[in-house]
Amino acid sequence: MGELLRVEGVNVYYGSIHAIKDVSFHVDEGEIVTMIGANGAGKTTTMHAISGLLKIASGTISYDGKMISRIEPHKIVSLGLAQCPEGRRVFSGLTVHENLEMGAYSRKDGKDAIQDDFDLVFDLLPRLKERRNQSAGTLSGGEQQMLAIGRALMCKPKMLLLDEPSMGLSPLLVKEIFHIIEDVNKKSGVTVLLVEQNAKMALNIADRGYVLETGNIIMEGKASELADNPEVKRAYLGAK
Ligand SMILES: Nc1ncnc2c1ncn2[C@@H]1O[C@H](COP(=O)(O)OP(=O)(O)OP(=O)(O)O)[C@@H](O)[C@H]1O
Ligand SMILES: [Mg+2]
Repeated sequence: MGELLRVEGVNVYYGSIHAIKDVSFHVDEGEIVTMIGANGAGKTTTMHAISGLLKIASGTISYDGKMISRIEPHKIVSLGLAQCPEGRRVFSGLTVHENLEMGAYSRKDGKDAIQDDFDLVFDLLPRLKERRNQSAGTLSGGEQQMLAIGRALMCKPKMLLLDEPSMGLSPLLVKEIFHIIEDVNKKSGVTVLLVEQNAKMALNIADRGYVLETGNIIMEGKASELADNPEVKRAYLGAK
């Protein structure tokens, strides 16, 4: 399968802080690729560089054959690259259904296509269907994360950027969320770039992975090989 996203030699600074350093990686169509790294490694910065929310100092980012390094975030979304931000930001005053509608607001492919995606989202995330008229602010943390994923899917993305979807969830819900991500990838064919501190779960569902440490990619490989790597085990998987 072809390459969908390529990040090449990207640098981002916050003032004098060099947050990501010559970062290069790629994601092929249909893959789940994970980027693992500790607090402050530069994961969210990398995501924001891709989605156009942050200006990159140098390097290039191409998606689906187009250079996207210098175009506006909403245009990047309309190319089929949707981001599910860190901290599951949902519109708490709106219902589940209204939040999902917000995800589809910029689409121009008509009511029927949007209805098909409501059906798809409710099929992948049945909990949202049960709670479609509940206000999003009263959902549990895990349900809000499901809603954030559902809302991103309503943009009809070809590729989804997920920033720490497991953050703050109980072990059981973490399992459920990772299952959902696998389903989104396998059942609806959405390519996934998953940024996670939960290296164990992320490597478990990913095809390939990259390890980010203080702004540098220090390792890459098949997810199964990374999970077996002694250095990764020690630093990220809690092995002695
Ligand atoms: N707006 C900002 N201004 C200054 N420094 C920032 C800003 N945002 C992030 N940083 C710094 O850049 C580095 C990378 O931050 P980033 O948020 O990308 O890390 P992260 O890998 O997502 O961490 P976490 O797992 O905690 O979310 C950190 O040292 C952080 O303090
Ligand atoms: Mg982050």
